[in-house]
Amino acid sequence: MSNTQAPGASPLAGDTPDFDTPIDRAGTSSLKWERYPGKDILPFWVADMDFAIAAPIRRALAERMEHPVFGYSVASPSLMDAVVSFLAREHSWNIDPEWVVWLPGVVPGLAVSTRAYCDTGDEILVNPPIYFHFYDSHESDRHRLLRVPLMSDDNGRRSWDIDAMRAACTPKTKLLMLCSPHNPTTTVFREDELKAVMALAEEMDLLVVSDEIHCDLVMSDARHIPTAAAVPELAHRTITLMSASKTWNLAGLNASFAIIPDPEVRQRFVHAKQSIVPGVPPLAYVATEAAYRDGNPWRLALLDYLRGNLARIKEVVDELPGLELQPLEATYLAWLDARGLGLEDARAHFEAAGIGLNTGEEFGEPGYVRLNFACPRAQLDRGLERLRAGALRAG
Ligand SMILES: Cc1ncc(COP(=O)(O)O)c(C=O)c1O
Repeated sequence: MSNTQAPGASPLAGDTPDFDTPIDRAGTSSLKWERYPGKDILPFWVADMDFAIAAPIRRALAERMEHPVFGYSVASPSLMDAVVSFLAREHSWNIDPEWVVWLPGVVPGLAVSTRAYCDTGDEILVNPPIYFHFYDSHESDRHRLLRVPLMSDDNGRRSWDIDAMRAACTPKTKLLMLCSPHNPTTTVFREDELKAVMALAEEMDLLVVSDEIHCDLVMSDARHIPTAAAVPELAHRTITLMSASKTWNLAGLNASFAIIPDPEVRQRFVHAKQSIVPGVPPLAYVATEAAYRDGNPWRLALLDYLRGNLARIKEVVDELPGLELQPLEATYLAWLDARGLGLEDARAHFEAAGIGLNTGEEFGEPGYVRLNFACPRAQLDRGLERLRAGALRAG
């Protein structure tokens, strides 16, 4: 099943972002749309968006395509400048370009971290529910994963249980892997929470890997604070992973970066990635530079549009017994408590209703489903109809 483009309309025309006109992604080898070939199931799962990229990024890519050679590439000074300026402006974080290590993905950054800093028998602390690659980026025959679930306040907002984390740590615990803002619960951690988690890292002598891939998609009034910036005197304990990929819909291009202030920690990271992790493709560098330098108006328009989509989800889900939208602070991924529906296999159940979702099992919290709402509103409405039908059928 593919979506169709309205005749005469083009989301590629002009510089004004057009999030409404559907784009047919059939024939583009889209992971999201190829999951259900020939089936009437609309995909609301994996985290990419059904939107055209920003005009300045398209132009930069087109310009680069005029040059016919695509050899191994390095980050240009102008790219570094765009990243450094963006972080200073948007997150009040002043970094030294020397701290940056480029990667073809954030997930390889998680995997490199476990290999760089954990010996055989060492432990890595993670907080379920969490993005599934936090569970599989270590070497399972050498490393042990400690799982300390996030706790929930009365409104369902999740945060770290620092006491439980402290109790779980042993002298073998070396790495704490955080996701901030958090996927799938969407929490944007406050300064006091970040300070507490960094104090724990100091007390327990942990290195903190902070995956901040969703940091430019804050939907509420909260403000993202990079973990390393929350306690500058402990920044030597941090590896921050970032990318333009989620925010500007560039996931298939493969450019991300680690920010590692401590030279020795950085050196170990660089050494661990040698011969395993490929370089960043030239077009990915170009797109990333255009995103950080010229993509902010598009990003702000995107956030507005996504807030409208979120309001739509609230309207529908509030009427449905057995399904509860969890507080959403960041990302375009709605985390829904579906425990009230009593489903044995939520994925199969909603697929039968014509909607493809991620399920809580994937994130280590059965009973929940995750809905990606980064799509044209008409498409979202069709999906929500199917969500409603699925929920009512279960109830
Ligand atoms: C928290 C988090 N980290 C990493 C990734 C993927 O990163 P990459 O595609 O750069 O490896 C995702 C994708 O959804 C994510 O949500």
